[in-house]
Amino acid sequence: MIRVENLHMHFGGIHAVDGVSIAIKKGSITGLIGPNGAGKTTLFNVMAGLYKPTSGRVILNGEDVSGVAPHQLFGRGLLRTFQLPRAFSKLTARENLMMVPANQSGETLWRAWFSRRIVALEERRIAEKADEVLGFLGLKHVADELAGNLSGGQKKLLELGRTMMVDAKIVFLDEIGAGVNRTLLGTIGDAILRLRQERGYTFCLIEHDMDFIARLCDPVIVMSEGKVLAEGQVEQVKADERVIEAYLGRGPVRRRKPSLHRAEVAA
Ligand SMILES: Nc1ncnc2c1ncn2[C@@H]1O[C@H](COP(=O)(O)OP(=O)(O)OP(=O)(O)O)[C@@H](O)[C@H]1O
Ligand SMILES: [Mg+2]
Repeated sequence: MIRVENLHMHFGGIHAVDGVSIAIKKGSITGLIGPNGAGKTTLFNVMAGLYKPTSGRVILNGEDVSGVAPHQLFGRGLLRTFQLPRAFSKLTARENLMMVPANQSGETLWRAWFSRRIVALEERRIAEKADEVLGFLGLKHVADELAGNLSGGQKKLLELGRTMMVDAKIVFLDEIGAGVNRTLLGTIGDAILRLRQERGYTFCLIEHDMDFIARLCDPVIVMSEGKVLAEGQVEQVKADERVIEAYLGRGPVRRRKPSLHRAEVAA
């Protein structure tokens, strides 16, 4: 579905992505893992059109989309979530979801100009869709709660819900499980599996939690220092010497989530 060919993304002297070639198969849940600063988010940003690559190509369904703007990729069903959820805290959970389609074109404004009735109908349709999404994610009970009052995990679910408001085909999830309690993490995992099963989604997700990765992802791609280090099934990459070395690290031990990396990889 997506092919990345010899991609480079440099920021001045920093080679955040340094010659990456990967493929994401339709219907797969591809995991992207690697130590902090490996270049995972940058790779996402290039694939989702936020950055124009320094060199290399991103091919979506056979078409070169390198440097195509995010809203245009959005129109082709390519969506991403952010490492830090971006809910509007002063809007309710339902309203946050209702914002998604309206955001995408000026069409609604034109319609508003022509007919209030069309707008009212459209709004009702979107509200119904939002309620369906909230139901799917087990968030119905917080539909009228301000997003600012939701727990971290509920915000992540809402972020996933935003991808369901449009006809998503491929979704990039950046650390959707970070800081989420075990129960909600299970709910997020269930939702991802069901979206793949029932709605044909393809996922690529960055995650540090190896249990979560092991439950959902096949294949897993490991990045380190801007490069792909290994690729394969979870068990395969966990046993890979180069992967273990990248996590346990030459150089300074990273402060963020180090124990998890060590425990998981060593296990
Ligand atoms: N906009 C930017 N300008 C300059 N350097 C950047 C920029 N974005 C990322 N970098 C650098 O590129 C490298 C890769 O960063 P990136 O955020 O892609 O890593 P990551 O694998 O997502 O890490 P983490 O697991 O901590 O989220 C880092 O050295 C980072 O400091
Ligand atoms: Mg990141």
